[in-house]
Amino acid sequence: MGLLDGRVAIVTGAGRGIGRGEALELAREGARVVVNELDADAGQAVVDEIAAAGGEAVLDAGDCSEDDTARALVARAVDTWGRLDALVNNAGILRDRTVAKMSVAEWDAVVKVHLRGHFLPTHHACAYWKDVGTGGRIVCTASSSGLLGNFGQANYGAAKAGIAAFSTIVAMEMARYGVRCNAIAPAARTRMTESAYGAFKDLSADDQEESFDFWHPDNVAPLVAYLCSDAAGTISGKVFGVQGDSVELYQPFTSVAVIQNHDTRFTPEGIAARAHELFDASGISPEVENMMAKLRFTMTERAEL
Ligand SMILES: NC(=O)c1ccc[n+]([C@@H]2O[C@H](COP(=O)([O-])OP(=O)(O)OC[C@H]3O[C@@H](n4cnc5c(N)ncnc54)[C@H](O)[C@@H]3O)[C@@H](O)[C@H]2O)c1
Repeated sequence: MGLLDGRVAIVTGAGRGIGRGEALELAREGARVVVNELDADAGQAVVDEIAAAGGEAVLDAGDCSEDDTARALVARAVDTWGRLDALVNNAGILRDRTVAKMSVAEWDAVVKVHLRGHFLPTHHACAYWKDVGTGGRIVCTASSSGLLGNFGQANYGAAKAGIAAFSTIVAMEMARYGVRCNAIAPAARTRMTESAYGAFKDLSADDQEESFDFWHPDNVAPLVAYLCSDAAGTISGKVFGVQGDSVELYQPFTSVAVIQNHDTRFTPEGIAARAHELFDASGISPEVENMMAKLRFTMTERAEL
């Protein structure tokens, strides 16, 4: 018995890295999986791996940020297995550059894959769930780069912060249809981050206890399988950090201090005289901060790109 027996799930960008681990874990828990991947060979390898382990999967190769591909993903699940229960929006790319040097192409490529690549599959899945009334699960993939900001990632961070907001709003809109939507901010050593974490080390079941590979991408998948299952119950509209052996819960942006001007509009000078109260009351530094460096589990610092 698995947490996802009888369920059907889509994972975008499932040919390698975190998405591959998610597709394999969902299948291990009993789900049948539509593997979406831009690189058809990488996607087919994951489908074969799932089949070799006794699971069921089909490949739907293509760019999930294109409407035809996104629509086809949902149709493929329904045509093949008669239902769709979960969507894991995972596909992503990087084009890191500081903002003064960033090209329009670098901005557009990242925003398209992440934001449109989340919106379109979610749009088609939600239209399906609204229609059939079965409820469903969505897991979106944000990033600490978006929640906190990361040097050299204005395009990526803006898209990832947008994904966290998108996920929260989808959760609100789809609650009445029994759809739960949550976002994860993972951290793992993949093609995307290999320069940050060094040489890849395989995690074999045998030596797992002696030498736990903290940054292995497969460490992200158990949380995703849980969030796709009934066991996650009513959890929705939340953002989880996940890496290694740990799962964290993020607090949403929250107002922590206020100044008010006795029912009259502030003047700029009036704000200038009192702005310090906001920082004094909250303990927040007025200067730019590297919030990523303050994370419990953090990547290496970056200063040139
Ligand atoms: N690795 C990390 O530490 C980390 C941290 C925060 C967020 N993330 C996010 O996790 C997700 C997975 O990243 P990863 O580290 O596994 O990267 P990865 O490069 O190893 O895997 C991403 C996969 O997505 C595929 N892909 C890219 N664009 C696509 C598209 N338009 N349509 C379909 N497939 C597409 C790629 O071909 C690749 O196989 C991304 O959204 C990434 O931003 C990763």
